[in-house]
Amino acid sequence: MSDILTHTEDGVCTLTFNRLDKKNSITAAMYATLAEALRQAQTDDAVRCVVFQGHETVFSAGNDIADFLNHPPSEPSAPVFLFLRALAEFPKPLLAAVCGPAVGIGTTMLLHCDLVYAGDNAAFAMPFVNLGLCPEAASSLLAPQMMGYHRAAEALLLGEPFMAEAALEVGLVNRVLPPTEAAAYAHSVAIKLAQKPLTSLIETKRLMKQPHMAAVLDTIEREAQTFAHLLRGPAAKEAFGAFMARRKPNFAGL
Ligand code: COA
Repeated sequence: MSDILTHTEDGVCTLTFNRLDKKNSITAAMYATLAEALRQAQTDDAVRCVVFQGHETVFSAGNDIADFLNHPPSEPSAPVFLFLRALAEFPKPLLAAVCGPAVGIGTTMLLHCDLVYAGDNAAFAMPFVNLGLCPEAASSLLAPQMMGYHRAAEALLLGEPFMAEAALEVGLVNRVLPPTEAAAYAHSVAIKLAQKPLTSLIETKRLMKQPHMAAVLDTIEREAQTFAHLLRGPAAKEAFGAFMARRKPNFAGL
């Protein structure tokens, strides 16, 4: 079965991470599928909004680490960057139902969603520094905007997980529900949105997003350059090697 499931019904396109054995970590092929699904959802008149979801136990463990090591994304045409631009510029409402760990891009992609519903088991983390990397998906711009500088600095510099209630408090999620109810609730909100006039939804989102769009796209690009550079650096090598070997990384001197 595909690692990304796509299903459209009643005007709602649902994109499901379906790689549970690897905690829904995202490969280049999955990014390409997601980018293409968003491109189709944008032009398909039958789609009025999109919902991202994972599993009740895990949303996504972020980038697939082995894939990242074997095929480090460096070109602007790399699938991860195609996905990020498609996500940032997606004109229709984007919703997410998040349960369990949401690591790295599993959290930063939510900064581009319009409505986020979390299971009370959701654990968000942006551990880029701990991996010898830097923020991506315009999170260095959007996280401070959304959470305030000091809370964003805590999340991005320390990289420690924060739970659903904390995410609610900083405005990253709209509502916290039992994990068994989060996806159904997000879907019920999506159905409500799908029954509203699409042009008004698109114009309303555009009016909210447009003032920052150029800065968001520029930040995605600047972060990507730094990220690609760091990905080849010694700290990232140590961090990823440690993850694969299931040992603690040693950043002494790095
Ligand atoms: N890339 C590749 N494989 C991953 C992965 C990732 N980001 N996250 C988890 N996996 C794999 C593990 O290697 C393991 O594979 P195996 O069964 O073949 O050994 C499997 O998924 C289960 O992972 P495990 O760590 O045992 O699950 P857990 O429930 O104890 O922890 C997480 C779940 C998400 C907290 C933990 O896997 C984790 O921290 N993952 C890394 C997250 C990360 O750093 N992402 C990169 C952000 S840029």
